[in-house]
Amino acid sequence: MLFSAFALLGLLPATFAAPSTGPLDTRAPLIQARSPSKTLSGKYIVKLKDGSTDASLSKALGKLKAGHVYNAGGFKGFAATLDTTSLEAIRNLPEVEYVEEDAVLSVTPDQTFKVAPRATTTQANAPWNLARISSHANGAGFYRYDTSAGQGTCSYIIDTGIYLAHPQFGGNAVWGANFADTSNTDANGHGTAMAGVVGAIVLGVAKKTKLVAVKVFDASGSGTTSGVIAGMNFVVTDKATRGCPNGTTANLSIGGAYSVSVNNAATNLVNSGVHVGVAAGSSNTNLANTSPASAPLVCTAGASNSADQVASFSNYGPGLDIYAPGVNIQVLWLGTGTNTISGTSLSAAHITGLGAYLYPLTGPIGGAAMCNYIKSIATVGVLTGVPSGTNNLLAYNGIVP
Ligand SMILES: *[C@@H]1O[C@H](CO)[C@@H](O)[C@H](O)[C@H]1NC(C)=O
Ligand SMILES: *[C@@H]1O[C@H](CO)[C@@H](O)[C@H](O)[C@H]1NC(C)=O
Repeated sequence: MLFSAFALLGLLPATFAAPSTGPLDTRAPLIQARSPSKTLSGKYIVKLKDGSTDASLSKALGKLKAGHVYNAGGFKGFAATLDTTSLEAIRNLPEVEYVEEDAVLSVTPDQTFKVAPRATTTQANAPWNLARISSHANGAGFYRYDTSAGQGTCSYIIDTGIYLAHPQFGGNAVWGANFADTSNTDANGHGTAMAGVVGAIVLGVAKKTKLVAVKVFDASGSGTTSGVIAGMNFVVTDKATRGCPNGTTANLSIGGAYSVSVNNAATNLVNSGVHVGVAAGSSNTNLANTSPASAPLVCTAGASNSADQVASFSNYGPGLDIYAPGVNIQVLWLGTGTNTISGTSLSAAHITGLGAYLYPLTGPIGGAAMCNYIKSIATVGVLTGVPSGTNNLLAYNGIVP
């Protein structure tokens, strides 16, 4: 009688709960890359348990030739090609938390509406998206901002690189690192566009932030999970060397399936004090199935248009922190011109830029706190077409009208 009562409550003593089929599998779990990500055969990301020492990292690495070694803040581990024997050996090490298959990732796809260089506009006649984030009412036509404009902050653009020579950066963009290939420039355009929304002189949100290129996607917009994690970890350690006392932001353009490693690396980046703007994704689906949009501490942005409607392509869900302009946004392009594109990437770039803009005003309050601050000053309830269960918040720079 007594035993059946325990069983009903799920309180059987451990000895009774042991499986009858064999000993427990004590190996570290092997996590498969989720569809639609394409697995990189034989390549893995190994994450050590929190609190692991450098010595245990060296021990786990042993004689393996790692593609990347991760040793930034809370994300210790490495990426390597492993044969069946070494995979088993690694999974049997007590300090290993999990092993995840490496996979191919790509930048969040954006729709391009126009690919013609344009004359840039003056701030009085500001692009709609800049005007929209400095006024509670729509249609202001001008962009108003505090003159600190992100001074003394760094914004890392984790993307296809940045075309540093674009005159609209005014020398404010520098090269950080390259985890994609050997060509230290942007041959795709996406990273340059994003960097421009964050900090270009005329088209940018935070006109004085220092832009740092971290290349994780090549000219075709393709990269790997392991390279993206290396890019995020680079920011954690590099930011101390850049002389940006007022705060650090980062922007991630990943259009990947859910990945525990990508989410953990993004969380580690936020916990190191970085405000991270991330695209919700542009496939009209719940962002819970994508990374790093689903990582809880990043600032995940959906897209709205100039009529304050939610974009039909924008991902949604309880994990979406805020909306920002993401339709028909004028951006910098390769060479000296501009382009007009749409996508939640652009919204993320506004949120990254807004963090850089606000840091000199708030002080370096950290990553998660900046996202909460941005939500606290947002324009509330003006958007139409917001799916139920998603926040009706539109990005606002806090300027008192
Ligand atoms: C940080 O922000 C303050 C306030 O706007 C500004 O006065 C200062 O010059 C900035 N620091 C740097 C190093 O630019
Ligand atoms: C910001 O992040 C989003 C996705 O997470 C990305 O699509 C966009 O390109 C990024 N912007 C920059 C400035 O890198």
